[in-house]
Amino acid sequence: MAFKVSVLLSVFILTYLLAPLVFTCENSDIQKSYPISLLVYNSHVSPMNLTFYTDIAYRGILLGAMRKIQAVDKNFTFTTVEDPNYGPFLVSVNGVAGNPAEHTYWELLVQPQNGTIIRPDVGVGCYIPNPYDTVILKFTTW
Ligand SMILES: *[C@@H]1O[C@H](CO)[C@@H](O)[C@H](O)[C@H]1NC(C)=O
Ligand SMILES: *[C@@H]1O[C@H](CO)[C@@H](O)[C@H](O)[C@H]1NC(C)=O
Ligand SMILES: *[C@@H]1O[C@H](CO)[C@@H](O)[C@H](O)[C@H]1NC(C)=O
Repeated sequence: MAFKVSVLLSVFILTYLLAPLVFTCENSDIQKSYPISLLVYNSHVSPMNLTFYTDIAYRGILLGAMRKIQAVDKNFTFTTVEDPNYGPFLVSVNGVAGNPAEHTYWELLVQPQNGTIIRPDVGVGCYIPNPYDTVILKFTTW
C-alpha cells in the first residue's frame, strides 16, 4: 500500500514538474523575435558612431540580424569571408576593411542590458544575441 502511494506520488510529482517544460515548448510566446541594436564604432570616420535597430529571431544568430539591417538600411553594409574552420569572419563594415599590414580589424563586442561590455569568444556567424543587447562592431588595432 505504502509502495502504491509512493509510486502514485512520484508519477504525480513527475507530471507536475515536467508539465511546465512541455507547455513552455508549445508556448508560441517563446518563438517571438526580440529587439537588439547594433553600434558601428569607427574613430577614424565621422560620425564615429552609427546605431541601427532590428528584431532578431528567437535564438537567431547575429549574422542574420546584420543581413536584415543591411537589407533595409543603406547606411549599413558589411562583407564577410568564409573561414573553412571558423565560419563567417567579418571583413569590412561600411566600406572600411580590416588590414593585416596595418594591424586593423573589426572587433565584435556586446553590451548587454546591464551595461558591462563583453567580448564574445565566437564570431558573427555563431553569436546568438540576447534580447536588448547592443552589439558593437568596433574598428580597432591589434
Ligand atoms: C561611440 O561608442 C563607443 C562604444 O560604445 C563609446 O565608447 C563612445 O563614447 C561613443 N562615442 C560617441 C561620440 O558617442
Ligand atoms: C542614412 O544616413 C543619412 C545621413 O546620416 C540619413 O540622412 C538617412 O536618414 C539614413 N538612412 C536611413 C535609412 O536611416
Ligand atoms: C552582465 O550580463 C552579462 C550577460 O548577461 C553577464 O555575463 C555579466 O556577468 C553581467 N555583469 C554584471 C556586472 O552583472
